[in-house]
Amino acid sequence: MYVLVLASQKGGAGKTTISRHLAVEAERAGDGPVVLIDADPQGGLASWWNRRQAEAPVFFASRLDDLPAHIEQARAGGFKLVIIDTPPQATGLIRAVVERADLVLIPTRPSPDDLDAVGRTIDIAEEAQKPMVFIINGATKNARITGQAAIALSQSGTVATATIHHSVSFPTSGIDGRTVGELDPSSNSAKEIAELWTYVSTRLRKCVMTTP
Ligand SMILES: Nc1ncnc2c1ncn2[C@@H]1O[C@H](COP(=O)(O)OP(=O)(O)OP(=O)(O)O)[C@@H](O)[C@H]1O
Ligand SMILES: [Mg+2]
Repeated sequence: MYVLVLASQKGGAGKTTISRHLAVEAERAGDGPVVLIDADPQGGLASWWNRRQAEAPVFFASRLDDLPAHIEQARAGGFKLVIIDTPPQATGLIRAVVERADLVLIPTRPSPDDLDAVGRTIDIAEEAQKPMVFIINGATKNARITGQAAIALSQSGTVATATIHHSVSFPTSGIDGRTVGELDPSSNSAKEIAELWTYVSTRLRKCVMTTP
């Protein structure tokens, strides 16, 4: 079983959006069953899941104290993947959750403010000696700043080859607890999420194989 943690100290980078999209996409791709864990006391993921009709992915809202038991429960239950959403800013909590990760995903908007802030999240992953991947989220098509952001991030680590562009379908699909792929499987956003999962799942297998 793999444990993926979404982390960014910066608010609004896309942690919750990408958590739920990767969870649903992993199930669709046959890489489940998946447990989605909301470790953010704001409970954004929980609200989305409560609006959702489909049963998968399975959902837990976890306080830090419950997290180890919930991960063990998932392992014992035969789940293949756990995806954990974390809050912004709460350094201590983020650090404790990152300790549980096989791979840390760091979503970042392609803006100077976000790039300036990403160092604090990198520090957390590096202190925990966890592999990390940056995901550029909310990009505008053909904007030069997207390429510039990718270059800047690549100085500090690996950048996912799939970029997630801005699309109103991300919030719209959440109205009834769905994802962009469930709303319109042929949309560009759905394809981006599918590409992102292909990339992340490959990295995850490599990370776990190389971790002693
Ligand atoms: N690619 C995208 N295109 C359009 N809207 C997006 C995209 N990604 C995220 N959003 C929207 O941006 C807002 C912030 O996203 P999200 O809640 O996923 O960020 P977050 O990192 O979890 O924020 P927080 O730090 O507050 O937990 C949400 O309203 C979400 O619908
Ligand atoms: Mg969030």
